[in-house]
Amino acid sequence: MLRTHTCGQLTVADIGKTVTLCGWVEANRDHRGVLFLDLRDRYGLTQVVFGPEGGASCQELARSLRSEYVVKVSGKVARRPQGTENPKILTGEIEVRAESLEILNRSLTPPFQPSTDDLPGEDIRLKYRYIDLRRPAMQRSMLLRHRMIKMMRDYFDRLDFVEVETPMLGRSTPEGARDYLVPSRIQQGAFYALPQSPQLYKQILMVAGFDRYIQVARCFRDEDLRADRQPEFTQLDLEMSFVEADDIIGVIDGLVAHLAAELLGIKLSLPLPRMTYDEAMERFGHDAPDLRFGMELIDVTDLAAQCSFRVFHEAAQQGQRVRGINAVGAAGNYSRKDIDGLTQFVVENFGAKGLVWFKVEPDGQLASPSAKNFAPETLKQIAERLSAKPGDLLLFVADKFETTCKALYALRKRFGAELKLYEPGQMHFSWVVEFPMFAYDQEEQGWAAMHHPFTAPRRQDIELLAADPAACRAQAYDLVINGYEAGGGTIRIHDQQLQQQVFGLLGIDEVKAKERFGFLLDALQFGAPPHGGIALGIDRLVMLFGGFENIRDVIAFPKTQRATDLMTGAPGEVDAKQLRELGIRPAK
Ligand code: AMO
Ligand code: AMP
Repeated sequence: MLRTHTCGQLTVADIGKTVTLCGWVEANRDHRGVLFLDLRDRYGLTQVVFGPEGGASCQELARSLRSEYVVKVSGKVARRPQGTENPKILTGEIEVRAESLEILNRSLTPPFQPSTDDLPGEDIRLKYRYIDLRRPAMQRSMLLRHRMIKMMRDYFDRLDFVEVETPMLGRSTPEGARDYLVPSRIQQGAFYALPQSPQLYKQILMVAGFDRYIQVARCFRDEDLRADRQPEFTQLDLEMSFVEADDIIGVIDGLVAHLAAELLGIKLSLPLPRMTYDEAMERFGHDAPDLRFGMELIDVTDLAAQCSFRVFHEAAQQGQRVRGINAVGAAGNYSRKDIDGLTQFVVENFGAKGLVWFKVEPDGQLASPSAKNFAPETLKQIAERLSAKPGDLLLFVADKFETTCKALYALRKRFGAELKLYEPGQMHFSWVVEFPMFAYDQEEQGWAAMHHPFTAPRRQDIELLAADPAACRAQAYDLVINGYEAGGGTIRIHDQQLQQQVFGLLGIDEVKAKERFGFLLDALQFGAPPHGGIALGIDRLVMLFGGFENIRDVIAFPKTQRATDLMTGAPGEVDAKQLRELGIRPAK
């Protein structure tokens, strides 16, 4: 080893020892002829002092050091002079008095300092990712990710799960996003698809008798990217045989409690709370509600029906809904102009037709330009229904159920952040269960699978498959953390006939089913056990556990919103020869 200790290791217990450290020059400052250097590595920072001990040549060499030079320093550990200690770091009571210095490598002036609080734009961080990854926040992120994945593997190992690797070069799978395709050279014109998830393989592993499977699995989806979505991401993928939804939920409850205890020091009480999809939509307008705060959506359609305000009245009569939220204590925070902004927000983004609002006056009266359209008695009932107190701001949307959900969910989310309705480190874990089997796809004019086509309906709903698909609920469950979908899974159909029926509803006829999933349908006929599973989004979990705002901060080499890797320049052009071999004609 070139060094005896790391830069995060030395304490007062080491005073007097002669040590050798290696690391990067974080900062050096000249203080009345004595040179101070902060030496950094993954483990921490150590202060190095170039005084008389090392002699003039060593001091001179030290003076030539620039940020991010890589050096090796030997010297004696000493106590820092009184009043110069730094209680914020572990090595803050000591310094190393340098006796020799060697420059192991020089650095160009870095585009930004890893220690800076004033970060450059993300494009610079991504282009020089190796500098960005030197930042303590990024090192913390990668370390957290490593520890979380290790804990997951250990947890499942204790429960007899087997990790099995499944192919990257496979057939198109049905997770519902666009595939990344890989052309075959040997069979020109044919393509592999990178897995959107190992869904079909893991089901087949159940047919193969593995009983309990996990995989830390890379998944690829060519979809529009957001702050919580990457084109390639990692799942903790799991499948179990001879189980029901409760068993899968129980195993994941145990995992989440273990991770929360070990990584966050939070003791969760199990089982984690559960809510049905229908309840989540009714109370929060979304299937992954942020339960760190209240502010539920409240229905006033019955009261709206009685008022003379045309918008409300007509909506109620047409079978639409009038719902609202109470932004508790927010009347003073939002001016007329701010509320106009909120109105524009829901109109432009979520197709709402407007926003009716009231401020609650000190005497409890509801005040608003719209108030004149309501009888005093109705206003009183509305105030009561929303538990309105002086200083509250009430907001209402009249529309189709889905539109009221989208608009009020977005408003609630905004208020949660803007009114600081939760603490920075606060975490809330819960399940949303019993999703609909199908969602109607307006574009395609047909049913689409809400999760994927292998999802089993609830037993009591099997008859609804023929009678009323919209009402049919699935044996499905999503893990929700702070308003994010952190994981999702289902019990699968293990009966080939039922599978065919569901394919039929999804417009996948027998020929198409055979062509795309024939191997699964075949396997289901060779003694498939009842089975089910789930996949957790590891990137999202690390993001949430680490308090990061963006999924790119928990991935070493992520892609931009445009799916490019700014460091390597991928995707890039390839040689004409490579294309010829694949039988692909260049686009230009
Ligand atoms: P699903 O599609 O719900 O289920 O994915 C499971 C979890 O993976 C995470 N996730 C993502 N994370 C980052 N970027 C993305 N683009 C992305 N897409 C999904 C989410 C999500 O909850 N095969 C099924 C699981 C099963 O049924 O067992 C599946 O993939 O956290
Ligand atoms: P209007 O009658 O269009 O002038 O609207 C009067 C007020 O009602 C405005 O504040 C609109 O933002 C609001 N509004 C209009 N339509 C709706 C609706 N469907 N839901 C909630 N508020 C609405």
